[in-house]
This record gives sequence, structure tokens and C-alpha cells, in this order.
Amino acid sequence: MENFTFYAPTYFDFGRNAEEHVGKLVRRFGGTKALLHYGGGSVKRSGLYDRVKKYLDEEGISYAELGGVKPNPRSGLVYEGIELGRKNEVDFILAVGGGSTIDSAKAIAAGMCYDGDFWDFYDKGTPIERALPVGTVLTIAAAGSEGSTNTVITNEKTGVKKGAGSDALRPRFSIMNPELTCTLPPYQTAAGATDIMIHICERYFSNTEEVEITDRLCEAVLKTIIHETPRVIRDPGNYEARANIMWAGMLAHNNVCGVGRVQDWASHHIEHELSALYDVTHGAGLAVIAPAWMRYVLGANPHKLVQFAERVWDIAPQQTDEQTALKGIEAFESFLKSIGMPLTFAEIGAKEQDIDRLTEKLLAGKETEGNYVKLAAEDVKKIYRYAATRNG
Ligand code: NZQ
Ligand code: ZN
Repeated sequence: MENFTFYAPTYFDFGRNAEEHVGKLVRRFGGTKALLHYGGGSVKRSGLYDRVKKYLDEEGISYAELGGVKPNPRSGLVYEGIELGRKNEVDFILAVGGGSTIDSAKAIAAGMCYDGDFWDFYDKGTPIERALPVGTVLTIAAAGSEGSTNTVITNEKTGVKKGAGSDALRPRFSIMNPELTCTLPPYQTAAGATDIMIHICERYFSNTEEVEITDRLCEAVLKTIIHETPRVIRDPGNYEARANIMWAGMLAHNNVCGVGRVQDWASHHIEHELSALYDVTHGAGLAVIAPAWMRYVLGANPHKLVQFAERVWDIAPQQTDEQTALKGIEAFESFLKSIGMPLTFAEIGAKEQDIDRLTEKLLAGKETEGNYVKLAAEDVKKIYRYAATRNG
């Protein structure tokens, strides 16, 4: 295991009716005037938005409001949020929604404490040293942004989707009421489950040895998602299954499962080019890319794929390691299909003729992508091409 530091001070308030505490939590973590940030309307349709405002009013927290965050959140709204936040002198950013809303809130929180262009954090890697405190009321189990250091934003002018991270961006609190996720359409539920699985895979597929504790934690999260996702697809109101998925989503990405090892992240970066170009749902893009990545790296480095097959998918050892690993990948693909996820370019509107462009953008300024197997441009193209030409 490698040396590591881990600082994850988010306060989680988990369970039925937890959103009732939002006003008190904003106050507890130093907020007196909040910027209330939300997405395209699901929180209004569910009545959550009005309830959150009521709880803020009851606690005497005033607020400015900014809605309209789109999935794959855009830089334009972040600039608007920074300006609005400064004009209203807010001291707290409250995100009510999913990963996109939380990521946009984190960008505003960091941007408000920075004199330059907030995009520097994403494009130039300028360190984020300060940010306003962020709190979240989570409505979808997926991105894990409720407990993570990260934010991912798309610059709509350049079509570049990039992430930035800092301990300063970990939410001060996250309210996680699984009931709030019961209104999710099955496709979003399944895309969220896929994203959770791949957050684990990015950590699991590592060449760092002697990491039994984090390997076992990773396997527990994967097995939970495999068990619970079909239950919520069949019965969207299943509170207990929703609860297990929601906590799995947090554990998958606050890095408790990833410390002490070199992580991969190739599938995510290869996918981000798809969401940037075609505005694909992130989890659906991952369902297309991650199995293609697994099939490609199998030849070069099967060892962790064998463990994945045996321990996660209960595959009996076959004649060769490659055969065992392949059976694991096939089981993963069948699972993705069974929950309604795509596996091919065609299903997400991606085009084979864009592969050169996707690869160029991905590798701009870099020799290789990923760590489990270091991928040069030709390797990345082969992964895209496999996803573009496979039959379902
Ligand atoms: O915008 P509204 O109307 O709220 O609708 C959303 C959106 O259309 C809807 N939704 C959310 N909760 C709902 C609901 N609909 C009905 N009932 C509910 N309870 O679901 C759609 C997707 O929402 P979004 O916030 O985009 O989902 P998700 O949490 O999957 O976030 C995706 C974004 O997170 C980034 C992705 O790249 C993508 O941009 N990621 C962020 C990470 C991080 N910050 O650590 C890590 C991830 O790897 C990921 O890259
Ligand atoms: Zn993700």
C-alpha cells in the first residue's frame, strides 16, 4: 500500500425527512445568506424546492436563487452564479439536485474566492486554495459529488469538459434522503448505478499490490450495486434499496475505497470526450466505454480483471486467466444491458468518424492516458473503435 493522506470532513445527514434540517445545517456551517442553486426543474416538480425554501426561512437564512443547471453543467451558468453571488454578498452555496448542480455550485464557490477566471482551475490546473462553504441536498445517487473533492464543468465555447479538485471543495454537509431519489426515471437510476460502479473500477484496476482492505471495500460496493439496482428498476419506490445505492454512491467516490493505490481514470476521461461532444448522460457513456476499455486492457494486464471476474461476478476459474477475465467482462456487460444501459456508439448517438477528433482532444498535451495500462493515441482509438463497431 502507498502512503496517503485522507481528509474528508463532510457532515452527512442521511435518511427520511433529512432535508428538514437544511436551514439549521447552513447556519451550523457558517452560512447566513445562501446562493440556492438547482437544475432544470425536477426539484420544483417534486416540491422539494419549496420545502427547502421554507426550512431556510424558518431558520432566518436569506438567499438568492439560480436555477437552470444542465446535465454536463456549463461554464456560462457558473460565471452567472459568481456574479450573482458577489452582487448579493452570499456566504454559502447550497446545491439542491444531482452531481451537475453540485459541481456547478462548487465551481461558483471557488470562483467567488478567486480574482482570475474560474476556468483556470480546470484548464490550467490552478490550485483551488479557497472556496465558499458548499452544502448539498442530493436527489440522485450517481456522481458522488456530495462527498468528493471534485467538480466537472463543460466550457461551452471550446467544447472542453474538464475536472478540478481540492479539499476546499468537499461539501461541509450533504443531506441524503433516499426518498428523494424515488422520482428518478429508470434510465437515470441505471446511469447513476453505472457511474458508481465505474468510480470503483477506476480505483480497483490498479497495479499497486497489497491493498486487500480497499479491494474488499471496492468489491462490497460493486456487489451492492449489482444486488440493489435491479430491485429499484423493478420497484422505484423501494426505500431500502434506494438507501443502499445512495450510500454506495458516496462511498464509491469520496476516496475511502481508493486511498493508498495508483488509480486509473482512463474510462472516465475517454467518456468525458463523449459527453462534451454529444451531451451524453455520463453514466450511459461509461457503460459504452468501460467494458470496451476492459476488453482492450485484458491482453496487456489481465491480473485484476481475473480477480474482478472471480470475486465480483462469481466466475469459476477457466482454463486460462484470459478466459476467466473475459467471462467477468461478459457478466458485467449483461448486467449493464439488463438495467437498460447502452453498450455501443450507435445507442448514444456517437459517430465512428469522430474518433480521431475525440482522441486528439483527450490527449492534448499528454503522451498517454490511464495507469493500469498506459494508453497511447492508437490504443485509445482502438477502444473507441471497439465501442463504435460492436454489435450490442
Ligand atoms: O436538472 P433536473 O431537472 O434536476 O433533472 C436531473 C437531470 O436531468 C434529473 N434528476 C436528478 N434528480 C432527480 C432527477 N429527476 C427526477 N427525480 C430526481 N430525484 O437527472 C438528470 C441528471 O442529473 P445530473 O445532476 O446531471 O446527474 P449526475 O448526478 O449523474 O451528475 C452528472 C455530472 O456529474 C459529473 C458528470 O461528468 C456529469 O457532468 N461527475 C462529477 C463527479 C464529481 N464531481 O466528483 C464525478 C463523476 O465521475 C462525474 O464525472
Ligand atoms: Zn463518474
